[in-house]
Amino acid sequence: MEFSSEANHRIARISAHLCPPNLQMEENCGLRQANCRGKGGAPGFKVAILGAAGGIGQPLAMLMKMNPLVSVLHLYDVVNAPGVTADISHMDTGAVVRGFLGQPQLESALTGMDLVIIPAGVPRKPGMTRDDLFNINAGIVRTLCEGIAKSCPNAIVNLISNPVNSTVPIAAEVFKKAGTYDPKRLLGVTMLDVVRANTFVAEVLGLDPREVDVPVVGGHSGVTILPLLSQVLYNYYFSKLLASF
Ligand SMILES: NC(=O)c1ccc[n+]([C@@H]2O[C@H](COP(=O)([O-])OP(=O)(O)OC[C@H]3O[C@@H](n4cnc5c(N)ncnc54)[C@H](O)[C@@H]3O)[C@@H](O)[C@H]2O)c1
Repeated sequence: MEFSSEANHRIARISAHLCPPNLQMEENCGLRQANCRGKGGAPGFKVAILGAAGGIGQPLAMLMKMNPLVSVLHLYDVVNAPGVTADISHMDTGAVVRGFLGQPQLESALTGMDLVIIPAGVPRKPGMTRDDLFNINAGIVRTLCEGIAKSCPNAIVNLISNPVNSTVPIAAEVFKKAGTYDPKRLLGVTMLDVVRANTFVAEVLGLDPREVDVPVVGGHSGVTILPLLSQVLYNYYFSKLLASF
């Protein structure tokens, strides 16, 4: 029947967006690989977010879906991944979005990825020491990095999970053990420190934060974040204006 074939086709398309390739209904529905955007054939970066259902993961997933350089977006989490995937996949931008739930689907989430971004873990809660945070997130990051070493050893890895000063070295050790370590492909995300420094300095100088550029070096914990206040750059016209006072 015409209706049934069309309905099957639609279901297969939705399934291709939401499920890992090994769960797709391609054969039953007669949907050819070439017609299925969910197979991720378009050129562009293939990006996986691990911990995609969290406070950082969800807006990050939205930003990645809006990025025209991204062709495939894999959203992995141990909870709520299907719902987040459905919402993000409805955005009318090019990237194909697929969701992956729990450890058994980690390998499918990672296979073929160019970039893996990791905000998985827990944020520090009241009463929690940095050691508590470290103990939980270190284990999570280690398991995820073991998956990366196995399924996408050449991917660039961006670590957001805190404490970044410690999770990056853990990832490095996992990759060294697996023989896949490349320091140029392993990054701790500390942009937050730059953004904050720009905002605070702009506030003091009475400038638009977008005009201010504060270089920040060091690490990503209270005592290791070092904004280089002697090296602050700001818009030339603002500097002239300041000089005239
Ligand atoms: N580097 C930075 O600048 C920066 C900034 C903000 C937050 N963070 C850190 O990012 C992390 C996440 O923060 P959040 O606010 O999104 O926390 P959150 O609790 O809202 O989200 C964390 C997500 O990770 C998932 N998760 C837990 N274990 C997992 C596993 N084994 N595999 C995959 N996913 C798993 C959770 O289900 C949850 O959805 C925290 O460690 C936080 O400290 C870093």
